[in-house]
Amino acid sequence: MLASPSVDPARLPALLQAMPKAELHIHIEGSLEPELIFQLAERNGVRLPYASVEALRSAYAFSNLQSFLDIYYAGASVLLTEQDFYDMARAYLRRAVRDKVVRAEIFFDPQTHTARGVSMETVIRGLHRACEDAQREWGISAALILCFLRHLSEEDAFATLEQALPFQGQFIGVGLDSSELGHPPEKFERVFARCRALGLHRVAHAGEEGPPAYIWSALDALQVERIDHGVQALKDEALVARLARERVALTVCPLSNQKLCVFPDLAQHNLRALLDAGLCATVNSDDPAYFGGYINDNFLQVFAATGMTAAHAWQLASNSFEASFAPEADKRAWMARLESVFSDYSAL
Ligand code: ADE
Ligand code: ZN
Repeated sequence: MLASPSVDPARLPALLQAMPKAELHIHIEGSLEPELIFQLAERNGVRLPYASVEALRSAYAFSNLQSFLDIYYAGASVLLTEQDFYDMARAYLRRAVRDKVVRAEIFFDPQTHTARGVSMETVIRGLHRACEDAQREWGISAALILCFLRHLSEEDAFATLEQALPFQGQFIGVGLDSSELGHPPEKFERVFARCRALGLHRVAHAGEEGPPAYIWSALDALQVERIDHGVQALKDEALVARLARERVALTVCPLSNQKLCVFPDLAQHNLRALLDAGLCATVNSDDPAYFGGYINDNFLQVFAATGMTAAHAWQLASNSFEASFAPEADKRAWMARLESVFSDYSAL
């Protein structure tokens, strides 16, 4: 295994773009580009409170998570038909293939849609068909993770789960997203226990803006297998030790953290420190249409800002496969491709 590859630093950006990788933290509604929002609004006769694509894009200046979520939920209001969900997911998957994503585990927020009268079947069928077509046409492995909105009640989450169960074969797990502060993971303990009993994978956003205590309760009360974000973990030594010992992956999203002011700038992002602490950190795009970049932009910009090396690149790509919910045989095949790309870029 090429644990410490020697790569000419001048070739590092090309290597970051060429290496195969898994994306484990992408909200499909956050991949809706302003151009597609306007196209869908026109197709569906939905009125938008913005005059143009440019006016919408210029509203993307956020001070914290909630200021982003308000705009993000408004953008999703143009999604009405199965074809809309298909088109959105197909556009993301096409873009992901360009960035050498070989596996995508895609979050979706059904409550954002069912609350507007769109059926669960419409949402899941459109997204799932896009995943199947992308696998067949482009070879990318893609799977769906249903997220519960944590600003709503656990009762609402239970009702959402019931609506989704007829389509259980079309998603692999559940997550927890939306407004973190004031909505600790333990609020959803019973519904996550039910999901576990149903054999679903479990992840949760924790420690994005919220305290390390939320990461502890995501692990203990929800029994999650990965933590989404988790960048606040470094404030708690005992938590870091546990995450490292149990190889709990963190799906880190550098550009998101920068745009939502979790860190003042990318140079101060703690991704490198998370890796140095022995944690299974990964790089992801979160909401690429809103935060100024897809997964390779996240890699390129965070590496440029923090001076990480090819050894970090290897670790991050390898972590992404280890942390994914894909079959072990697929993971082995992707690791072999990773080795082959690294040997192409290694100095002789
Ligand atoms: N939904 C979409 N993006 C999110 C984020 N970064 N945190 C919480 N919920 C989200
Ligand atoms: Zn997220």
